[in-house]
Amino acid sequence: MEPWDSADLDRAAECLARARYVIALTGAGLSVESGIPPFRGPGGLWTRHGEPPLDGYQRFLSDPRRAWEERLNPNGPMRELWEALAAARPNPGHQALVELEELGLLRCTITQNVDDLHRAAGSTRLLEIHGNATLIRCIVCVARFPREGIDFAELPPRCPHCRGILKSDTVSFGEPIPPDVLERCFEEAEQADCMLVAGTSATVYPAAQFPVSIHQRGGDLIEVNPYESDITPLCRVALRGAGGELLPQLVERVRRM
Ligand code: APR
Repeated sequence: MEPWDSADLDRAAECLARARYVIALTGAGLSVESGIPPFRGPGGLWTRHGEPPLDGYQRFLSDPRRAWEERLNPNGPMRELWEALAAARPNPGHQALVELEELGLLRCTITQNVDDLHRAAGSTRLLEIHGNATLIRCIVCVARFPREGIDFAELPPRCPHCRGILKSDTVSFGEPIPPDVLERCFEEAEQADCMLVAGTSATVYPAAQFPVSIHQRGGDLIEVNPYESDITPLCRVALRGAGGELLPQLVERVRRM
């Protein structure tokens, strides 16, 4: 693994500065320095415990009461994940994306993370394509509510608007991405001519399609990842290192331009 060098950082900053419309795609790797394990690769949750069943949503629909009992009393890898999420705080990688947004350079961040850390760091132009673990969503009217406002005495909890069944806002395996978020992600990806891809293996669709489409349209991809990913061959610049270390340095290079 060739560590990044200064020239790479400059080339990445030049790509960002000359781009017309920059967006970012982030994944679990960006929250590793906040104490949340990734899913794949070294130390990954699925690497250690195996990938979860791909019919998570069908299981929820077939017995939502049981699914909620498991969600409220998690064990194994899901307990590890939810405990890590509860203790996590944004790291310099999250803050660097907020700075790029404040500079007017970063138009939107599409995150696969459900950990709420981008929002906690101050990102405002944010699309959470896999949902947010602090929110609850109605599977009928798609209304979302803060989790702490929901009464779990009766399971499954019901939507205060339409009495539909409420589910965690996090998108389960086998669940379609809520159309309101998915449409906006496609809109942003279609406008972009440069994408910063940080902390993702780029293996899960539809999110993994966005960098490929931007590349196919001649756009630049800048990867920040300690290891190669599925999109590395498509990248204009690949910065091999940790997001919390490299993204703040990238912001500094952009500021100097
Ligand atoms: N900084 C940047 N990248 C890192 C760091 C770090 N400190 N540590 C690890 N990485 C990289 C890994 O090399 C890997 O390529 O982050 C990536 C994490 O990949 P995954 O664990 O596959 O996470 P992600 O791409 O977000 O997974 C997509 O899969 O399981 C589902 O719903 C879940 O949203 C998730 C989706």
